[in-house]
Amino acid sequence: MDVFEKCRSFASDPAIAESMGYPANPQKAKELGLYPFFIPMDQAEGTEVVIDGRRLIMLGSNNYLGLTMHPDVREAAHAALREFGTSCTGSRFLNGTLALHHELEARLAAFLGKEDAIVFSTGYQTNLGVFSALIGRNDIVVCDKENHASIVDGCRLSLGRMKRYRHNDMEDLERVLASCDESAGTLVATDGVFSMSGELAPLPEITEICASQGARLLVDDAHGIGVVGEGRGTAHLQGVAERADLLLGTFSKSLASIGGYVAGDRDTISWIRHLARSLIFSASLPAPNVAAALAALDIIEQEPDRVDCVNAIADRMRTGLRDMGFNTGSSVTPIIPVFIGDSLKALQVWRYLYDHGLYTNVAIPPAVPVGQSLLRTSVMATHTDEHLDLALRTFAEMGRAFDLIP
Ligand SMILES: Cc1ncc(COP(=O)(O)O)c(C=O)c1O
Repeated sequence: MDVFEKCRSFASDPAIAESMGYPANPQKAKELGLYPFFIPMDQAEGTEVVIDGRRLIMLGSNNYLGLTMHPDVREAAHAALREFGTSCTGSRFLNGTLALHHELEARLAAFLGKEDAIVFSTGYQTNLGVFSALIGRNDIVVCDKENHASIVDGCRLSLGRMKRYRHNDMEDLERVLASCDESAGTLVATDGVFSMSGELAPLPEITEICASQGARLLVDDAHGIGVVGEGRGTAHLQGVAERADLLLGTFSKSLASIGGYVAGDRDTISWIRHLARSLIFSASLPAPNVAAALAALDIIEQEPDRVDCVNAIADRMRTGLRDMGFNTGSSVTPIIPVFIGDSLKALQVWRYLYDHGLYTNVAIPPAVPVGQSLLRTSVMATHTDEHLDLALRTFAEMGRAFDLIP
């Protein structure tokens, strides 16, 4: 059998795509005008984007604080580009560490109240490296079922075992931990802010359970940093930053760059620094990206109003959608899902909004379970009242056109 045979079937036979959970294969979806992925933008200025000459309101970005176009962030990246060029051309381990990387690590550790931190080239690589380095043959990692894919992939790369508990279900977490071999080292891993639903993990309960069962805790706060807890994230918001052993996150959202970090005690970070293969065998974060993240961190510390602002805008958007009758789940953050259910309907709804000037993200199987398709919307601190008015008006029209709201 040709190893590429499945690729040809996926491209030509819609039934194959359906059997994988997709409502249609990419070719068919394009013919129907219902292909929402890889859309090239001609301009992307933060709250607005231009596609095919049309201006749309961006309601699908992780640029929560709107810092990617901030003059200080751009100037810091420019200055680093002039000084260090476009690439470090090597791994952090060898020729790819700049004093700037160390500065960012020290700043992050201080910001998060941890002894030390290490910076990776992406958030995804951070999870690959951290879990594969920490979870040895006799260890177990216990994951929330809705954790980000990069945590799952990191666990799969490790030599240990992964167990999962029902999403945010503390009884189930206790049950799973109780089923772990007492001689095994155990790490519980959860998103701080869940990336699709915008829900928070109940970290005070999780830290209690971890303490009572002798487990360590890692919080992936990719969507929490810059957004909650005065920008310090979910563990700070919930008053358990000291009890959460490892705080992990990314620069690709509020911090207006790319890259990832993990912060914790000195010995554990040193272990990760020397054993994480995604750090050691991959080139380091380029200087302009390090400088952009540092500048974004400065702004978060100096302008706490930005954090309040994105949450106020999220409240307005969420309340508006809920009052109309949309189901936005348990979101309490700038990530606001709009549950649609059927995947074809979700694509049609996405297309309607797209045609009427709103850029949203759609999540269909296999990214979400069958029958639970949704639009993932997210707001930024830089969205204006006019953006929100127009967005809410368009959602109302869409909801009535598709019989989703009264
Ligand atoms: C919870 C979580 N962790 C890790 C990542 C990976 O981060 P990056 O996109 O910076 O590689 C993401 C990305 O969306 C995420 O949502």
